[in-house]
Amino acid sequence: MSIDSPPAPAGPAADGLAAQALQRQFEETLAADHRIEPRDWMPDGYRKTLVRQIAQHAHSEIIGMQPEGDWLLSAPSLRRKAILLAKVQDEAGHGLYLYSAAETLGADRADLTDKLIEGRQKYSSIFSYPTRSYADVGVIGWLVDGAAICNQVPLCRSSYGPYARAMIRICKEESFHQRQGYELLLTMMRGTPEQQAMVQDAVDRWWWPSLMMFGPPDADSPNSAQSMAWGIKRHSNDELRQRYVDMTVPQAEFLGVTLPDPELSLDPATGRHRFGAIDWDEFRRVLAGGGPRSAERIARRRAARDDNAWVVEAATAYADKHASEPRS
Ligand SMILES: [Fe+2]
Ligand SMILES: [Fe+2]
Repeated sequence: MSIDSPPAPAGPAADGLAAQALQRQFEETLAADHRIEPRDWMPDGYRKTLVRQIAQHAHSEIIGMQPEGDWLLSAPSLRRKAILLAKVQDEAGHGLYLYSAAETLGADRADLTDKLIEGRQKYSSIFSYPTRSYADVGVIGWLVDGAAICNQVPLCRSSYGPYARAMIRICKEESFHQRQGYELLLTMMRGTPEQQAMVQDAVDRWWWPSLMMFGPPDADSPNSAQSMAWGIKRHSNDELRQRYVDMTVPQAEFLGVTLPDPELSLDPATGRHRFGAIDWDEFRRVLAGGGPRSAERIARRRAARDDNAWVVEAATAYADKHASEPRS
């Protein structure tokens, strides 16, 4: 350093400059469409938003095992049972990848589970509805996994690396889930009038809740704009919902079922479908824990945590023992 150089800033001024440089680097990474990785600096709000979103997503995968898992013991054939078992196990895997992604942000998995059970974090409202017949298994695959695909394919390009990478595998498996559901429904629609009626009844019950999976309308979704600016989300709730409706209507026609919305119609000018008003009061009620099966879902998750605590303790003790052993 030459004698004429101004003295390097120190103390709070230096900290301020360093913070600005980190913020700039973060913004440049986003602008270049590169991924933010766990060791990179990130704003607190970005980290908190991601933890909340990833945790809610993980909880949805795990709670989502219950409505379909209820049918494992009464699947109509060995083939259907094997398919359903594989699907429910996939959902467990999705939950685990996502909890791991949340851990890379400093979250603690046991703490996230506690927050779910205590009602301080949410899961998708769709899984608070009951499954009433085996046709529900098909309709969940077709509509619920179909909506999940619409939501999640853009997340493969999410700005946070571990989340985006988890989504790539999850989406491949969701695609299998959607197809197995649709194939089951096609089979039932070729069956008896009673089977066809079961499919229509299930479609009637799941259609509207599936539209709610995209979240509140953009005008009522205050965090969406920030999430999009951060590249966590890539499309707005309404945009994804519209894409889902446009994708699903022709599939319903091919299947031979009626979607329970008299206002559903194709707008020839835009090629997009108009649809009726969604009951957002119902959405908010269910999301707040007032769904038909909300209490049961959480009670079962709590029982699973408590009944299996000894496995966690034993596995932790085993891991600690091996970690303290000298390496040979
Ligand atoms: Fe899943
Ligand atoms: Fe799935």
